[in-house]
Amino acid sequence: MVEAEKQKKFREMDMEERFDYLRRNSGLTEHGEQVLRDWKNNAPKETENHIGYMVLPIGLVKIRVNQKIYGVPMATEEPSVVAAASHGAKMAEKTGGFKTQVIGTGTITTGQIQIIDIPSDRFEAAIQKVIDYIPQLVEVGNIASPRLIAAGGGIVSIKPKSIYVKMRQSVPGADHRQLIIDFDVECKDAMGANAVSKMAEAMAKPIESLTGGKAVGRILSNLSLGRLVICEAEFDKEAIGLRKEINGSVIEIPANEMIRNIIALNDWAAIDQFRTTTHNKGIMNGITAVALALGQDTRAIESAAHSYAAYGGRSYQPLSHFEILGNGNLYGCLSVPIPVGLVSGVIDSNPTAKALIEITGCNDARELASLHAAVGLAQNISALRMLAGEGISKGHMPLHHLRTSSS
Ligand code: MEV
Repeated sequence: MVEAEKQKKFREMDMEERFDYLRRNSGLTEHGEQVLRDWKNNAPKETENHIGYMVLPIGLVKIRVNQKIYGVPMATEEPSVVAAASHGAKMAEKTGGFKTQVIGTGTITTGQIQIIDIPSDRFEAAIQKVIDYIPQLVEVGNIASPRLIAAGGGIVSIKPKSIYVKMRQSVPGADHRQLIIDFDVECKDAMGANAVSKMAEAMAKPIESLTGGKAVGRILSNLSLGRLVICEAEFDKEAIGLRKEINGSVIEIPANEMIRNIIALNDWAAIDQFRTTTHNKGIMNGITAVALALGQDTRAIESAAHSYAAYGGRSYQPLSHFEILGNGNLYGCLSVPIPVGLVSGVIDSNPTAKALIEITGCNDARELASLHAAVGLAQNISALRMLAGEGISKGHMPLHHLRTSSS
């Protein structure tokens, strides 16, 4: 999306003006526009035992990410979420917006194969056999997902590991260990859940033959460490300071006090899991709404985020961190896995999601993941500023009541 015209803000435009603006300033095609206007006749494919549709409003947040201005669609039942994300995006605007770094290729999905009942006297040899046959296993796995290979993806590593388990059923001669084979797959612009699970299923039989065990679980892992996005922003202190008139009385809190309060909130979230959970929910308010609008698997993203927040045996942690900078501005950093893709059956069967992806103008899955993370951090700073200042019932709820009573 190119820089907005100065005359009218997007929120001040009527629907015609908004589409006119999007036609000229985003990747929205004529077809995409028709789909959005005629959404009732462009429903996604029916589901099992279909009885209707859950309709959600879609809002657009204007946000600068890596020096480019985007219009990012958000679908959510909560009206204040889009307003909060827009406010958070604005707070970073003066200092250059949001910067993201995608770790590695950022498009790796991990698969897992579980092997049980390996005879005790063959366990070590079984691990060695898997290692010796890695090239052949890669070939078998890759053949199972030809579209991924055609797109330049494929298995990049296979790592066996053993886990100790209680033997609930005694299998004569079987080991107390299970052999778990983790494998990483470069998925390019696909999220890769189906492709990776198919690969796991294809490799399971040859691994049974190599190890003498029995394959049970064959599925991707949603702990998406190969899709980590680090998003940073500097929030201008002038934008953090609060001066607001609510019901005739003025609430005024200077920037330095607001920043101190926000850091105190962050410190609280680092220690008390009751607060950590709500802090991270605020981040996911943004990320999930973007994911839902863009036809992504919201549950995969949420499970990855919350699992990452407790990764490596540490206590459940806030996904973001805030500090005061030497110039008095507030620095924020969010680290979160974002397993998303531009290529999927769900997107193919959902014309609205396709049109909304056009609006973002995203060209690859890394860019798409960056937008999710940036909106997550924008949402988070906005929520923390509101808590540090006027509080949720004055800051967040009034918008909710306003919207619900006028609709
Ligand atoms: C409400 O949907 C989200 C917040 O509770 C997040 C937070 O407390 O940080 C406001």
